[in-house]
Amino acid sequence: MTAAGRPLVVVTRRIPSAVELEIAAAFETRLNPSDTPMSVDALKEVMRTADAVLPCVADKITAEVINTPGRKVKLIANYGVGFNNIDIAAAKAAGVAVSNTPEVLTEATADLAMTLLLMTARRAGEGERHVRNGQWTGWRPTHMMGTMVTGKTLGLVGFGRIARAVTKKAHDGFGMKVVFHDPLVAAGSLGAEARPTLEQLLGESDFVSLHCPALPETRHLMNAERLRQMKQSAMLINTARGDVVDEAALVAALQEGTIAGAGLDVYEREPAVAAELLKMENVVLLPHLGSATLETREAMGRRALENIRLFFSGAPLRDRVV
Ligand code: DGY
Repeated sequence: MTAAGRPLVVVTRRIPSAVELEIAAAFETRLNPSDTPMSVDALKEVMRTADAVLPCVADKITAEVINTPGRKVKLIANYGVGFNNIDIAAAKAAGVAVSNTPEVLTEATADLAMTLLLMTARRAGEGERHVRNGQWTGWRPTHMMGTMVTGKTLGLVGFGRIARAVTKKAHDGFGMKVVFHDPLVAAGSLGAEARPTLEQLLGESDFVSLHCPALPETRHLMNAERLRQMKQSAMLINTARGDVVDEAALVAALQEGTIAGAGLDVYEREPAVAAELLKMENVVLLPHLGSATLETREAMGRRALENIRLFFSGAPLRDRVV
């Protein structure tokens, strides 16, 4: 608590200004007007001085940061649905509460998965570079042919909220057949059919879109062997987390023609992207934009604020992770 008796909340990066104002009205607040990424030392200083911290996916809240001697922070209100940036076991052991912002980014992230799917299928990144580079010489029947999306099979790895939103868009909007594999969901719904094994899903899908959380069990889920199980004509879409894909194996699979293309929003070593991917025309690369709409980023901020309010009023957290 500050001298004014209000908890001090530190927001590690710029978030939409309307929400920054709402947080500042509710709590003693330290913002980051220059939007500079916080160093480990800066995060440790936050841990020592604040009551709650609102970090985002790019802030690594490691065990070392959580266990800062003299830590005062009692709540880590993550700005994002994924929380692989936080050492959850360390937070639990230290008795620090963690919340996230589910639901509010579902549609935006599903839209971005569809954006990548369409861009990859229709060679949109390549086409845009072609026009901008002044290489376009005019319409011709065999120019830059892509592949149809309508009527094709979309395989979803994981069938949580975002995968279900993708199902509606792909099935109802684009006439795709949708199949999914999720060890926790046996029955199909929304027009999507369940597949009992990942291998079966990979073997029949024209597009494979990843929607599983980043957990130790899902690290490098898409490795060289799994990429080989995909059709040679198939394309991989990743809006989940970078380390679900073995990026080196993906580079090799694209170089060797094991699969036909990829649309990526997330990377194993963000913001670094494998140099080989940058040179490939059959790969669409976006800078982790899944939730990047103003409406969504405001809603994420408000959801994090709601969790902070609940926590300091002694009520149960709406989105408790630990
Ligand atoms: C999330 O919430 O997990 C998003 O990837 C952050 O943009």
